[in-house]
Amino acid sequence: MNILNEIVIRDMSHFDLEGVLALECEIFPTPWTHEIFEYEMRHRERALYLVVEVRKKIVGYLGAQVLGDEVHVTNMAVAPGLRRRGIGTAMLLECLRRGMEQGARWVTLEVRENNHEAREFYSRFGFRDMGLRRGYYIDSGEDAVIMTSRDLKGSYFQELLSGIEAELARKAG
Ligand SMILES: CC(C)(COP(=O)(O)OP(=O)(O)OC[C@H]1O[C@@H](n2cnc3c(N)ncnc32)[C@H](O)[C@@H]1OP(=O)(O)O)[C@@H](O)C(=O)NCCC(=O)NCCS
Repeated sequence: MNILNEIVIRDMSHFDLEGVLALECEIFPTPWTHEIFEYEMRHRERALYLVVEVRKKIVGYLGAQVLGDEVHVTNMAVAPGLRRRGIGTAMLLECLRRGMEQGARWVTLEVRENNHEAREFYSRFGFRDMGLRRGYYIDSGEDAVIMTSRDLKGSYFQELLSGIEAELARKAG
């Protein structure tokens, strides 16, 4: 079965942290700790933390803060062996849907300058480079690229989203 038909996207809970941290440590050079995820999840009024699971196994997660009219994506990852199958897209779509329900109109995020895969991924959503934060990543001294979306409720973005949803449905078969 196509994996997109098997994924479940739901709110992250404390019980997910073992699976989330296993991926976080595998993927990121300076992984977030248990305490950071716990802290974020204690602030549910502004924190949007999602996991994707396949047959009860965590295969991806996304963290964001919804601050007024802004969704700020803080963390996002898909298990290395399951990339390029649409899981990241499905997760970000769910985040955008929920953010818009809460009144958001913009997405912002920071991404490592050398992280071309993620930058390509976000650019498919129409996110643009808005500037650099010099030396943002303490582990490597790398700069962060600040990316922002178009107006989420504008016709340009809405049409883009419809296209991405249609493409995802095609991928799911
Ligand atoms: C970024 C990330 C979450 C994307 O997840 P994913 O499930 O592979 O994404 P999707 O399959 O939905 O990709 C959608 C599109 O994004 C683009 N894209 C994704 N990965 C890409 C890559 N490695 N190279 C070029 N384009 C890529 C493609 O256009 C892709 O569509 P296609 O596969 O039909 O060509 C994943 O690569 C990841 O976990 N990276 C490591 C962690 C990370 O960098 N997180 C972001 C920190 S800001």
